[in-house]
Amino acid sequence: MKHLIDPTDLTREETDQIVDLALEIIDHREDWQEKMAHRKLSTLFYEPSTRTRLSFTAAMMELGGNVLGFADAANSSVSKGETVQDTVRVVSSFVDIIAMRHYIEGAQLYASEVSPVPIINAGDGSHSHPTQTLTDLLTIRRELGHIDGITIGFCGDLRFGRTVHSLIKALARYKDVKVILIAPEALKLPDYIRRDVCDKMQIDYREVETMEEVMPELDILYMTRVQKERFLDEDEFDRVKDSFRLDCEKLSKAKTHMAVLHPLPRVNEILPEVDNDPRAAYFRQVENGKFVRMALIVKLLEWKNDPAHGMPQDDIPIYNPHAKCTNPKCICASEAAAHKFRRSTGGELRCWYCDAKVK
Ligand code: NCD
Repeated sequence: MKHLIDPTDLTREETDQIVDLALEIIDHREDWQEKMAHRKLSTLFYEPSTRTRLSFTAAMMELGGNVLGFADAANSSVSKGETVQDTVRVVSSFVDIIAMRHYIEGAQLYASEVSPVPIINAGDGSHSHPTQTLTDLLTIRRELGHIDGITIGFCGDLRFGRTVHSLIKALARYKDVKVILIAPEALKLPDYIRRDVCDKMQIDYREVETMEEVMPELDILYMTRVQKERFLDEDEFDRVKDSFRLDCEKLSKAKTHMAVLHPLPRVNEILPEVDNDPRAAYFRQVENGKFVRMALIVKLLEWKNDPAHGMPQDDIPIYNPHAKCTNPKCICASEAAAHKFRRSTGGELRCWYCDAKVK
């Protein structure tokens, strides 16, 4: 069975099949209206969301299926102390597929270990957000016509922005993609992505501090907000919160075909004056999110019993009784998940669930 916990759970071919199906659905919407008739999706959201949850709901409804779940864990048995594994065991007896968002990193991977139905990670802490990645890939395809060969600038919170982490992982599998990382020191990309994705997959990347210096080179400018809720220190957030502002003046230096993407919500990093520029693709991107989730639901259920589409087997967990994950935001810290690890490119142990380096 195929779950989608991390973008690399899909091969490049499977990723392209989902994006291609989304394009097909966009062109022939009426053909898909009954595809999921009598089937159910559950949305289990332990963390606030507008777009992602409604987009899953709209996707399932547009396929003729039904949706049940919760948007606030405080109103569910979670508030009585139920574990994510138990919640998933219970909910999976009612539904065909589950989309889950959690503030705990690795929660969905842990849940998937006991789930008899496909689990889709709709965001886990600052770790991963693979369905936003599919949305972004579809948007790039629709805006530029191709993904191979693009130059993409990531600007904003590259440290806590899970959409950035996931998109970089996915782009590593396309040809000749150039990545420019635009962030101040305090918001730089985490070391595990730099080493285990950028270096390992030999991505052509460089780091700069201002968007102005690279604007003319970019095909895609991917903006993100500074992730206030992930900072443990409020002063640190205050120091970096206004790092970037995209306005029409800065955009005037960009290529005419460049597209500005943003997973939304924005705070102040893109001024409203930019919205009227044809290069502002972020509201088109939202709609793409619904189409790509329609395609994902169809494909995961189609692949459910097909051994050719299982989970990747290239990593085998390492059990080491002397090592412990110490990330307070990891599932290992809140539930009885086994401390297990994988060995990174640099040779150190990283937590199986959250990728944190084990000290
Ligand atoms: C993003 C998220 O939740 O990570 N939003 C989304 O899913 N569209 C980005 C964010 O919250 O900044």
